[in-house]
Amino acid sequence: MSEDPVEARARSRIGRLLRDKWKLERLLGVGGMAAVYAATHRNGSKAAVKVLHLELSLDPKMRERFLREGYVANTVDHPGAVRVLDDDRDDDGSVFLVMELLDGESLEARQARLGGHLPPEEALLLMDQLLAVLAAAHARGIVHRDIKPENLFLRTDSELKLLDFGIARLRDNSASATRTGMTMGTPAFMAPEQALGQSERIGPPSDLWAVGATLFSLLRPLHRWSPSWPAPSHLTLQSAGRTPWPCSRPSARPTTRSPVRLFRWSARGSR
Ligand SMILES: Nc1ncnc2c1ncn2[C@@H]1O[C@H](COP(=O)(O)OP(=O)(O)O)[C@@H](O)[C@H]1O
Ligand SMILES: [Mg+2]
Repeated sequence: MSEDPVEARARSRIGRLLRDKWKLERLLGVGGMAAVYAATHRNGSKAAVKVLHLELSLDPKMRERFLREGYVANTVDHPGAVRVLDDDRDDDGSVFLVMELLDGESLEARQARLGGHLPPEEALLLMDQLLAVLAAAHARGIVHRDIKPENLFLRTDSELKLLDFGIARLRDNSASATRTGMTMGTPAFMAPEQALGQSERIGPPSDLWAVGATLFSLLRPLHRWSPSWPAPSHLTLQSAGRTPWPCSRPSARPTTRSPVRLFRWSARGSR
């Protein structure tokens, strides 16, 4: 199978020295915004270096937003939020963040490694940890807006870390972050108000919706959203015709309210 061109380009950076300081040694992951590497500073310290994709680095607004990620993540001030230590710009113009280096795997990778889903007890304990980080973030006026297995990282010591505050919004500077009508996030996990681009309605409950979608997908891989579907109706489409929840314990079955009814209920603004 041929390698994705973005990943191939990210891989070609391995061995480079950024700012004469950080040697990129290993590719840890590639997301929609950036590639993340294990790196060593010339003084010997180890860190994760997140480099904004080159085509995005050309856009000053994107660069600014990318660098904001560090400030937002550190504002959460909770051990479950990844710590960002520094930011800088390489000689070729690419901007990068320096973060604590985490040892473990993303929940997306873990799910794939375990054959598609996590044991229910483990998934629930992880969501419990996630809710604690989100409570800290929400208390500081931060809405993450991109909760999904790929942005959750399980350390080898079983501590969960929330990554990727790239599209997070701070209450105070919401106007500059995303315009009304612009949809950002990951459709399969988005709350209706986010899918509809109603940015003024996006708040802590939008993250909680994504926690629910994440839990559901960790327990059972969903039919992923397809770009050919019209965005605002993706939730209805996703929920339609799904076979029952794969759980043997009746007490753990979900509410009788179907996802479709929940969507309509929330779209009416009752949430
Ligand atoms: N601090 C870190 N330590 C180890 N791996 C990381 C770290 N940050 C990110 N990763 C890995 O890189 C992937 C992409 O990182 P992410 O911050 O989500 O980038 P993007 O903003 O492009 O989505 C993650 O899913 C994870 O596997
Ligand atoms: Mg990500």
